[in-house]
Order: sequence, then structure tokens, then C-alpha cells
Amino acid sequence: MMCDLGCFKWIFARMGFALLGGLLFLGGGMAMAASPAVSDDSETCLGCHVGATPGIVSGWKKGRMARMTPETAMKNPPVSRRISIDKPPEKLAAVVVGCAECHTMNAEKHKDSFEHNGYSVHVVVTPGDCAVCHPTEVDQYGLNIMSHAYSNLQGNPLFRSLGDATNGLQTFENMKITQAKPDPQMEGDACLFCHGTKVEVKGMTVRDTPDGEMDFPLLSGWPNRGVGRINPDGTRGSCAACHTRHGFSIEMARKPYTCSECHKGPDVPAYKVYNVSKHGNIFSALGGAWQFDSVPWTLGKDFTAPTCAVCHISMVVTDDGEILSERTHSMSNRLPLRLFGLIYAHPSPKSPDTTVIRNSQGLPLPTELTGEPATKYLIDEKEQAKRLQTMEKVCLACHAQGWVDGHFARLNKTVQYTNDMSLTATNMILAAWKKGYAKGLAQQDNPFDEAIEKMWVQQWLFYANTTRLASAMVGADYGVFADGRWFLSKNNEDMLDWLKSRGVRN
Ligand code: HEC
Ligand code: HEC
Ligand code: HEC
Ligand code: HEC
Ligand code: HEC
Ligand code: HEC
Ligand code: HEC
Ligand code: HEC
Repeated sequence: MMCDLGCFKWIFARMGFALLGGLLFLGGGMAMAASPAVSDDSETCLGCHVGATPGIVSGWKKGRMARMTPETAMKNPPVSRRISIDKPPEKLAAVVVGCAECHTMNAEKHKDSFEHNGYSVHVVVTPGDCAVCHPTEVDQYGLNIMSHAYSNLQGNPLFRSLGDATNGLQTFENMKITQAKPDPQMEGDACLFCHGTKVEVKGMTVRDTPDGEMDFPLLSGWPNRGVGRINPDGTRGSCAACHTRHGFSIEMARKPYTCSECHKGPDVPAYKVYNVSKHGNIFSALGGAWQFDSVPWTLGKDFTAPTCAVCHISMVVTDDGEILSERTHSMSNRLPLRLFGLIYAHPSPKSPDTTVIRNSQGLPLPTELTGEPATKYLIDEKEQAKRLQTMEKVCLACHAQGWVDGHFARLNKTVQYTNDMSLTATNMILAAWKKGYAKGLAQQDNPFDEAIEKMWVQQWLFYANTTRLASAMVGADYGVFADGRWFLSKNNEDMLDWLKSRGVRN
């Protein structure tokens, strides 16, 4: 075989690493030289990357996967084992999870694979790659509505109109505002930042690096860590949305800050609400002394009040090892209702793919415009009761039934009230469309882009959602004057004023 330039670089890299490893060894036996069983391939990556991307290498070294081999992990009892395979693949069993294990995994499935110093490497490590060792989490995540967040938005013409009305550039001419369609860059910086982009290979580029010229793929929608990202191997989502690279820690995912990145705006204020709740308060005051790394996670010993993960995701055990709640990466099995109003709160959808939903008018919405649920696509009462019970089991670890019953009775009342307040606003927008003061669906126009339409959107998207989430997660401050009931009532008055100012009388 002829050895071309790339091949020489590769040999050089290996020699370079051996030298570096040796130096580290002489210098105190720390770092890579002391780490257990790194594969030869990963050692080659490290040889260059300790210089090319030192932050990535040090981040990886701090993570559990740089210290644990699948084989060692299998020795732990199932309840504290952090992998979910029965038997690790032979080649991967006795080495830690290094650069090559992830970035060359399933190379043939990755459209983003590229020749990189003798290896077929891909940049975008996906749920499909993690599934080799974590199949349970990946399967469950596939059932999570989050993994569908890209397509639920982009595959629904009505939701896309909402995106267009939010992001498109407006220009003013002849007493008219015209709004252009947003471009992909803009979308990647707006809705798709959280929902996820579509990552595709758009060609190759040559970059000059400290190790010489190299070819790299040009990726669209990159960078992105959205929960429903469409990956170049066809899989959905990014595990790094909650387990940031390259530590991929459980600790980070269990802390509420992780969720705050996407669950904070007036449409989705779970974090803000949690932050002012008693639970969030206890976390802020006492959380510094809690153990966020233990598996299993023991109530009372490791933590004393719930974080987002405790109520929505975690496996929680008691001091004597009884499992109070099973871990779930799908989350919906604890959610009876979809509080997020589209445009009303409603029973949770049956499928995480919400693009299949049609109401009786044929609109891709889970309720009628007047609020009645599109029941065919939503879970029934029996399933709702089951999910409520699963959630309540978590509460009941720290509260008595009376406390919990009282809480959910209030939430139900709030759901009814906010739906009714949204209906009042909807009746006004229907009147505005009917009388021709705004152009809506019947005129085949964007129903979200005119002044009164934006008021209507704020009613259900901001104020009703905020009030409901404040009730569900006991952050009362947000349910009243901050984006809450005050604005629900004021907004209805403002909408009526707008109609009257056009001369609408009845
Ligand atoms: C000969 C040195 C060398 C070797 C060996 C090497 N890399 Fe790299 N790699 C680099 C350099 C230099 C870059 C460019 C960094 C930059 O863009 O600033 C890079 C970039 C990358 C990227 C990012 C590509 C992009 O476009 O974002 C990934 C992923 C990567 N390497 C993974 C690996 C893996 C996995 C291995 C081992 C299988 C490996 N590398 C081996 C030098 C090397
Ligand atoms: C929405 C945030 C979120 C996303 C996205 C997410 N996780 Fe997790 N993950 C968590 C939380 C929270 C925990 C802690 C669960 C617990 O306390 O029992 C966790 C725990 C884990 C664990 C440890 C399980 C154990 O046995 O201790 C693994 C492995 C894991 N996740 C893998 C993944 C993989 C693979 C993906 C992508 C398919 C993923 N996670 C996506 C939040 C997330
Ligand atoms: C457990 C799997 C895993 C391991 C081990 C791993 N990576 Fe990654 N790597 C990822 C994921 C996931 C991403 C980010 C993709 C995303 O954002 O969804 C990533 C991203 C990257 C990137 C692009 C990030 C950027 O900011 O440009 C580089 C470069 C990279 N990894 C190099 C390495 C190197 C070098 C090592 C070894 C020290 C390594 N990776 C080990 C999974 C892994
Ligand atoms: C900061 C992160 C973030 C951004 C940016 C964002 N969203 Fe969302 N979106 C969320 C979250 C979180 C949810 C789920 C809320 C819940 O269930 O309570 C969601 C859910 C949705 C849903 C429900 C989809 C379904 O059928 O399940 C729609 C529609 C939606 N968003 C539209 C948009 C539009 C349009 C934009 C851009 C104008 C946007 N979002 C920008 C975080 C975001
Ligand atoms: C080759 C097998 C393998 C692959 C591939 C792999 N992991 Fe792991 N992972 C492990 C092992 C081994 C552990 C440690 C298990 C233990 O300690 O019980 C682990 C632990 C974890 C944990 C728990 C970390 C902690 O702090 O407790 C998370 C989260 C995780 N992996 C996420 C991921 C994600 C995300 C991917 C894909 C980007 C991935 N893993 C790919 C083998 C793998
Ligand atoms: C990168 C952004 C992002 C992060 C980080 C994130 N989420 Fe989400 N989450 C979303 C989006 C977007 C949706 C809605 C997807 C849809 O409706 O299509 C969602 C949906 C949800 C839902 C489901 C709502 C339903 O009715 O089914 C829950 C619960 C949730 N997230 C909780 C969390 C928790 C807890 C964390 C932190 C451990 C977290 N999320 C981290 C973006 C994110
Ligand atoms: C005390 C337990 C608890 C804590 C802590 C908690 N939640 Fe919730 N969450 C709930 C309950 C209960 C609901 C309402 C469930 C239902 O009715 O379906 C809910 C609803 C939600 C929803 C709405 C889903 C939908 O129906 O649209 C999201 C998103 C969410 N929580 C995210 C979070 C995030 C992010 C955090 C942390 C910042 C958090 N939660 C903290 C219990 C909790
Ligand atoms: C890990 C323990 C724990 C779990 C789990 C838990 N809570 Fe709490 N909760 C507490 C503590 C501690 C307080 C503070 C009590 C006090 O004020 O002294 C509290 C307070 C509350 C309050 C009163 C808020 C206030 O400001 O007055 C409500 C309501 C509540 N919890 C409901 C719930 C619900 C509903 C769930 C389940 C979805 C739940 N909790 C889960 C520990 C927990």
C-alpha cells in the first residue's frame, strides 16, 4: 500500500501521542496515562485533540464514560447500573467510551461521515449511536414529544404560520406592512433553536488546522442542540440537550438550570414558575448540599425537595430501597393533560407525533377553535387517571393525599378558567374575521399576523399558558400579575377596544 500525505499525518499523530503519553506518565502518571483502558483508536484521536481541542478532551476526561468500561458497569446491580444493555458488544466491552467509540460508531449510517486521518468520523453523535449502550433511554426518548419537536412544528402548516408571523422581516410601504418568510438562518436562531434543526451535509470544505489542511463536512442547521433535531443518520433529537458534551453527566440533567434554557419564555414558563415555588425555593436554599450524582437517587438522603427531574423523569427510591417512581425518558406517562394550549389545554395526545391530529373542521389542531377536544387523537379518561396516579405517587412521598388532592382540584379549576378566558378572546377574533376587520383562515391568510390576531395569540399562548403552569407547579406569582390572570382579563378588554375603535358595534 502506498502511504500518501494523510497516512503520514496519521502515523505522525500516533507517534506524537505515544510521546505525549510518555511525557504525561513521566510527569506524574496522571491524565491519559493513568486512565483505564482507552482503545488504540481513541488514543490516536487524543494524540491530536489534546492540542486541537483541549477543552473537549478535558471535558471528556471529567465525565463518567471516560472512567467506566461497559464491562465494569455490568458488575453493578441493575438498580445502580447506568447502562441498559444485557451484554456489551465485544469490541466495546473492555475499553472506556472514548472519542472513536462515539464518533466512528455506525459510520455507514451517517451521511456526515468523512475521512479524517484514517478514520470514518462523524461530527453529529446521535441517539442512534448512544443506543448501542443505552437502548432503553433512546427507545423511551423516541416516544417523548420532545423528539418530535422539529416535525411537530415544521410539519404543521398552522404552526408554521405562527413562526412566520413571529420571525419574518416586516417592511412598511403604502400604509401596509408586508412580512417576508424567515430564512433558515433566522429559523435556526429562533423556533428551531429549541425545537431542533434539520442537519444535512451540504458539501465539503478544506480548513487549515495546526495539523495541516483537512477536509470537513459543511453542515446545515449547525450548531444546534434542539430536542427534536433531525440528524444526518435519520434519527431524531440530541441527548446533549440535557447531557451536555463532553461530560454527559446525570448531575447536570437533574438540575433545573438545564431545563431553563427552553422552558422559560412567557409561552412555556415552567422554570420561572418553579423558581418562585416553594420547591424551587428549597432547592435554591439547600440544594448545594444535595447529592446529584447518586444512582439510585434516594429521597431524603440525596435531596429533600423536587427538581424538574424528580417530578418528570427520575427514578426515586426510599432509604430502604423501595422504588417510588420509575425513570422515564418519555415523560408523557406522568402527564394526563397537555397544559400548553393549542389553543386550549386538553387531554395529552396519544402519539408524540402531533402532525396526525385533525379537528372536525380538518384543521391540524387538538381542539376545535371553540375548545372541544379532538378526542380521537387524545388519551381517554382511564389513561388520564393512570397518568395522574403515576405523578401523584411522586408527590405522596412527601405530602399527604389531602394536600395533593387539593392541589390538583385547583389545577383543574384553573384549566377550566383559562380555557374559558381564551374562548372569550376567540369569540372576538372570530367576529373580527367574520366582519372583515382582519383576514384569517377563511380568507386563506395568516391568522396570527395582524394586531388583533397578535392580541388573541397572547391570550392563549402567553397568559393562559403561564397561568396554568403557575398553578401546576405552584409558582403563584406568575399566575396573577406577572403574565397571569390580570393580563387574561386586560387583554380581553383591549381586544374589545380594538374592535370598537373600528366602529364594530354588534
Ligand atoms: C492528525 C491529527 C488528528 C487526528 C489523528 C484526529 N483529529 Fe480530529 N481534528 C483534528 C483537527 C486539527 C481538527 C480541526 C479542529 C478545528 O476545526 O479547529 C479536527 C476536527 C475534528 C472534529 C470536528 C469536525 C468539524 O467539522 O466540526 C471531530 C468530530 C474530530 N476531529 C474527531 C476525531 C476523532 C473521533 C478522531 C479519532 C478517530 C480524530 N478526530 C483524530 C486533528 C486530528
Ligand atoms: C430532557 C432532558 C433529557 C434528555 C433530552 C435526555 N436525558 Fe438522559 N437523563 C435526564 C435526567 C433528568 C436523568 C436522571 C434520571 C434519574 O434521576 O433517574 C437522565 C439520566 C440518563 C442516564 C442515566 C441512567 C441511569 O441508569 O442512571 C442515561 C444513560 C441517559 N440519561 C441517557 C440519555 C440518552 C441516551 C439520551 C438521548 C436519547 C438522553 N439521556 C436524553 C434527562 C435527559
Ligand atoms: C459519548 C459519546 C462521545 C464521546 C466519548 C466523545 N464525543 Fe465528541 N461529541 C459527542 C456529541 C453528542 C457531540 C455533539 C453533538 C451535538 O451537539 O448533538 C460531540 C461533538 C464533538 C465535536 C464538535 C463540537 C464543537 O463544539 O465543535 C468535536 C470536535 C468532538 N466531539 C470531538 C471529540 C473528541 C476529541 C473526543 C474524545 C476526547 C470526543 N469527541 C468524545 C459525543 C461524544
Ligand atoms: C426557548 C425554546 C423555544 C423556542 C425558541 C420556541 N419554542 Fe415552541 N416549544 C417550546 C417548549 C418548551 C414547548 C413545550 C411546552 C409545553 O409542553 O408546555 C414548545 C411547544 C411548541 C408547540 C407545540 C407543538 C406540538 O404540537 O406539540 C408549538 C406549536 C410551538 N412550540 C411553536 C413555536 C414557534 C412557532 C416558535 C417560534 C416562533 C417556537 N415554538 C419557539 C420551546 C420553544
Ligand atoms: C460503548 C458504550 C456507550 C456508548 C456508545 C455511550 N455510552 Fe453513555 N455510558 C456508558 C457507560 C459504560 C457508562 C457508565 C455506566 C455506569 O457507570 O454504570 C455510561 C454512562 C452514561 C451516563 C451517566 C453519566 C453519569 O454522570 O452518571 C449518561 C448520561 C450517558 N452515558 C449518556 C450517553 C450519551 C448521551 C451517549 C451518546 C452521545 C452515550 N452515553 C453513549 C457507555 C456508553
Ligand atoms: C433544548 C430545549 C429543551 C430542553 C433543554 C428541555 N426541553 Fe422540554 N421540551 C422542549 C420542547 C421544544 C418541547 C415540546 C415539543 C413539542 O411539543 O413538539 C418540550 C416538551 C417537554 C415536556 C412535555 C410536555 C407534554 O405535554 O408532553 C416536558 C414535561 C418537558 N419538556 C420537560 C423538560 C424538563 C424537565 C427538562 C430538563 C430536564 C427539559 N424539558 C429540557 C424543549 C426542551
Ligand atoms: C412538584 C413536581 C413538579 C416539579 C418540581 C416540576 N413540575 Fe412540571 N409539572 C408538574 C405537574 C403536576 C404538571 C401538570 C401535569 C398535567 O396536568 O399533565 C407539570 C407540567 C409541566 C409541563 C407542561 C406540560 C404540558 O402539559 O404542556 C412542563 C413543560 C413542565 N411541567 C416542565 C417542568 C420543568 C422544566 C420544571 C423545572 C423547572 C418542572 N416542570 C418542575 C409537576 C412538577
Ligand atoms: C421530595 C419531596 C417533595 C415532593 C416529591 C413534592 N413536594 Fe411539594 N413540597 C415539599 C416541601 C418540603 C414543601 C414545603 C412545605 C413547607 O412549606 O414547609 C412543599 C410544598 C408544596 C406546596 C405548597 C407550596 C406553597 O408555597 O405553599 C404544594 C402545593 C406542593 N408542595 C405540591 C406538591 C405536588 C402536587 C407534588 C407532586 C406533583 C409535590 N409537591 C412533590 C416537598 C415535596
